[in-house]
Amino acid sequence: MLNRRSFIQNTMLSGIGFTMINNNSLASNSIESASFAENLIPNVGGVDDEIYWKKVRTLFQVPEGFINLENGYFSPQPKSTLAFHQNRESYINKNTSWFMRKEQSQAIEASRNNLAAFLGCLTNELALTRNTTESMNIVINGYPWAFGDEVVIGNQDYGSMVSAYHQAAKRYGIIIKVAEIPLHPQSIEEVVSAYTKLFTSRTRLVHITHLINLTGQVIPVAAIAERAKSAGVEVMVDSAHAVAHLKFMLPDLNADYVGASLHKWLCNPLGAGFLWMKSEHIHKIFPLTADEDYPINDIRKFEHQGTRPIQSLETIAESIKFHESIGSELKQNRLRYLMRYWVNQVKSIPKITINTPTLNDSECCAIANIAMEGFTPGELAETLLKEHGIFTVAIDHVAVKGIRVTPHLYNTIEELDQFVKALKKIAIK
Ligand SMILES: Cc1ncc(COP(=O)(O)O)c(C=O)c1O
Repeated sequence: MLNRRSFIQNTMLSGIGFTMINNNSLASNSIESASFAENLIPNVGGVDDEIYWKKVRTLFQVPEGFINLENGYFSPQPKSTLAFHQNRESYINKNTSWFMRKEQSQAIEASRNNLAAFLGCLTNELALTRNTTESMNIVINGYPWAFGDEVVIGNQDYGSMVSAYHQAAKRYGIIIKVAEIPLHPQSIEEVVSAYTKLFTSRTRLVHITHLINLTGQVIPVAAIAERAKSAGVEVMVDSAHAVAHLKFMLPDLNADYVGASLHKWLCNPLGAGFLWMKSEHIHKIFPLTADEDYPINDIRKFEHQGTRPIQSLETIAESIKFHESIGSELKQNRLRYLMRYWVNQVKSIPKITINTPTLNDSECCAIANIAMEGFTPGELAETLLKEHGIFTVAIDHVAVKGIRVTPHLYNTIEELDQFVKALKKIAIK
C-alpha cells in the first residue's frame, strides 16, 4: 500500500500517480461492515459532534492517498448500500430473465413508492430515470414548443441542459433568454428579478438550477416560481445537487417539472434519477424514447429505456434508509458547517476571493468556490493535488473562475485543516 508521502512523490514524478493509487486502493478495500444500523451511534452534539462524525466516516469507503474534496460529481455509497446493491446485482444475475419477466415491475413500483414518500410527491407523478440529464432532456426535447416560444434560463446552468435548449432553438425556433445570476446577491429579490424581468407574453418556461454546481449558490426557486405562476410561465427545476443535500420536499418548490440524480447526495449507486412532473402536464410531453405501452397521461411512458440495471433502482430504498438514519436536517447542517469551517479560515487571505454567498443559510450548503490571485483555476487545483494531495476541481466558466470545494459527511475536520494550511502555504509563495 502506498502511503500519502509516496503518493505525492509518485504523482510529482510520474504525473499519473493519481490513477495508479486509485486502482491500488480499490483493490485493497473490502466491505467489512455491511450494517450501518449496528455501527451508527446516537448524535448528541449536533453538527460538531466529532465522535459521531468519525463514526459516520467508518461507514464509507474512503479513498487512500489523497483527500477527496470533490464530492460534487457523485457520492460514494456507504458500505451498507454498496453491499445491498451488490447482493441485488448478484440475485438478478442468477435469476436473469425470470427476474425481468416476473419480478421487475414489482421492484420498480416499490422503488417508486419509496422515493415518492421521501420526496413528498405522488407516485403517479414520478418517473424513475437514469439521471438529471435524461430527466431534463425528456422535458426540453418533448415539450410542445411553437416557433417563437421563449424560455428563460440562467447563465450558470449545467452545460448539458444549455445544449438541450440550444438544440431546441435550432429544431423548433424557440428563443432563449439568459438571466445573469449575481454571485453575491444583496437580496433574494435581486436573484428573483434576474429571471422574472425577462418574462414576456411569449415565455413558456423558466429553467432554474436549484443549487448551482459551479459555486454552490442556492437559488430561491419557490420565490421565482410564485412570480412565474402569476405570469403563466411553467417552472422547470434542475435539482441535481439539491436532493438529499438541502432539506426540502418537492411541493415546497411550487414547480411544474423537477429532475435530479440519486447518485449525488442520496449516495445511491450510479444509474438512478427521477423526473417529477405535475400530472396535468404528462399528456403533452413526448417521451425521449417512444412508448406505446402506457396511456399518454401515464408517467411511466417516460421510463421506456429497454433493458436496464434494476438493482440501482432497488437500492433507492436502502439509500433513503441510510440518509434518514442521519436525517435531512442534521446532514444539511453538517455539510454547511464543514463548508463554513474552511471558508471562514481562508476568506481573509488577501489573495483569495470567495465566489459563493456563504453568510445566509438559505443561499449555501456544502459547496463553495474560491479563486486565488496569480493562479488559474487549473493551476490552483493542480498545485493542491500535486503538492498537498488534495483533490478539488477547477471551474473555468465564463461566469465564475475558481476551484470548487465539496466536502462530504465522511470528510474530517483534520482534513479541512490540512486544506486550509495548504491554501495558506500556496498563497504566500
Ligand atoms: C446542476 C447539475 N445539473 C445536472 C447535472 C447532470 O447530472 P447527471 O450527470 O447525473 O445527469 C449535474 C452534474 O453534476 C449538475 O451539477
